[in-house]
Amino acid sequence: MKARIFRASRRDLLKGTAALSLAGAFPLPAIAQGAPLKVGFMLPYTGTFAKLGKFIDDGFRLAVEQKGGKLGGRAVEYVQVDDESEPAKATDNMNRLVGRDKVDVVVGTVHSGVAMAMAKVAKDNNSFLVVPNAGANDVTRTMCAPHIWRTSFTNWQPCFPMGKVMYDAGHRNIMTITWRYAAGLEDVEAVKESFTKLGGKIVEELYLPFPQVEFQALLTQIAQKKPDAVFAFFAGGGAVKFVKDYAAAGLKTSIPLYGPGFLTDGTLPAQGPDAESIKTTLHYADALDNPANKAFLAGFKQKTGQDGDVYAVQGFDAGQLLEIGLSAVQGDIAARDKMFAAMQAAKINSPRGPISFSKAHNVVQNIYLREAKGGLNRYVSVAHEALADPALGCRAAA
Ligand code: BEZ
Repeated sequence: MKARIFRASRRDLLKGTAALSLAGAFPLPAIAQGAPLKVGFMLPYTGTFAKLGKFIDDGFRLAVEQKGGKLGGRAVEYVQVDDESEPAKATDNMNRLVGRDKVDVVVGTVHSGVAMAMAKVAKDNNSFLVVPNAGANDVTRTMCAPHIWRTSFTNWQPCFPMGKVMYDAGHRNIMTITWRYAAGLEDVEAVKESFTKLGGKIVEELYLPFPQVEFQALLTQIAQKKPDAVFAFFAGGGAVKFVKDYAAAGLKTSIPLYGPGFLTDGTLPAQGPDAESIKTTLHYADALDNPANKAFLAGFKQKTGQDGDVYAVQGFDAGQLLEIGLSAVQGDIAARDKMFAAMQAAKINSPRGPISFSKAHNVVQNIYLREAKGGLNRYVSVAHEALADPALGCRAAA
C-alpha cells in the first residue's frame, strides 16, 4: 500500500514537472492567470493641455469605477505616461508602453501631432489604440486599422459646420488664427471648405507656433484688417489666454469671435466675462438635457469635485466603448475579431447624445452650436445631426 502510494505520488510529481515545463514553454494567457487588464494612459499631464489630459484620465476611471473597477469583468491596472504634448518624444513614449510595459491597450492622446506618431507605432506593432481626444484626421482616414479607434472627433467634424453658422450670421470676410500644427491647420481647412463653398472669403490666415501664447502682434493685424469675424482654434491654457487677450485688445465688442468648442470648453471659469456670448460648435454642450449627461456630470462631480467637460466625456466614452468590446469576449482582449465586432456595433447613450462608430472607427455624432453664457457653454441648436467624418483614404470605410 505504502509502495503504491509512493508510486502514485512519484507519477504525480513527474506529471507536475511535465506540466510545469509545459507551462514554461507555453505560458498561460494573462486572462487565464487572472491577471488584470493593463491600460496605458499616454496623455499630457503637464503643459498647456494638462487639464485636458487629467480630465480624460478621470473620465475613463469613472466609467471603470461604475463597472466595479473592471472592464469586461477583469480588474484594471493603469500605467501613466506624461506625453507633454511633445511630438518629438511620442514614438519613444508609445514604444515604452507597448514594448516595456506591455499594456493591453493604449488610451491617448490630446495633441494631434503626438497622436499621429502613436498611430504609426500602433500600426507597426499591431497594438490596440483608443484615441480619446486628438482630432488628427488621418488617424481614422489613411491610418485607419482594425485596432485603432477614436472616441472623440476628427478635426474636420466640429469645424465644417461652423462655415455655415458664420455665413448665416451674415459674415462674408473672415480671418482665422490658430497654432501651426495638425489640429490648427485641419480646423482652418474644414471651416474654409464650408464657408468658401457658400461664397464667403478667408481674408487672412494667422498662425503662431504651438504652444506659444504671444498673441499681441497678430491681434494688431486683426484690428487693422477689420474682418467681419474671426475663427480661432486654441484649447486649454492657450485658449484661456487668447480669449482674455482678444477682449483686452478691444476686439470683443467690434469683431465677433467664433471657433470649435475647444476655445471655451473647460475654460470658462478662467475666462470669465471675456468669453461671454462667444459662439462655438462642438459635439458636446455643458447642460445638454439628457439623462446620460445628468448622471455623468453628477458622477464626475462626486469623484473629482469638478464640473465635467468635453474631455472628461471623451475619456468616459473610451471606458464605455472598451466595456462593450471586452464584455463581448469576457475580458479576453486577445479575442480581437469578436471584440472589435462588438465595438463596431456599439450604440452608446453618451453624455453628448447618441453616438455610434463609422467603419473607420471614428464617432458619428451631433455637432451643436453653443453660446457661452453665465459660465456655461449653452446649447443653441444642432448645427449638424449625426455627422460622420468622410474618412477619405480609409479602405475599410470605402
Ligand atoms: C488636437 O491637437 O487634436 C486637439 C487638442 C486640443 C483640443 C482639441 C484638439
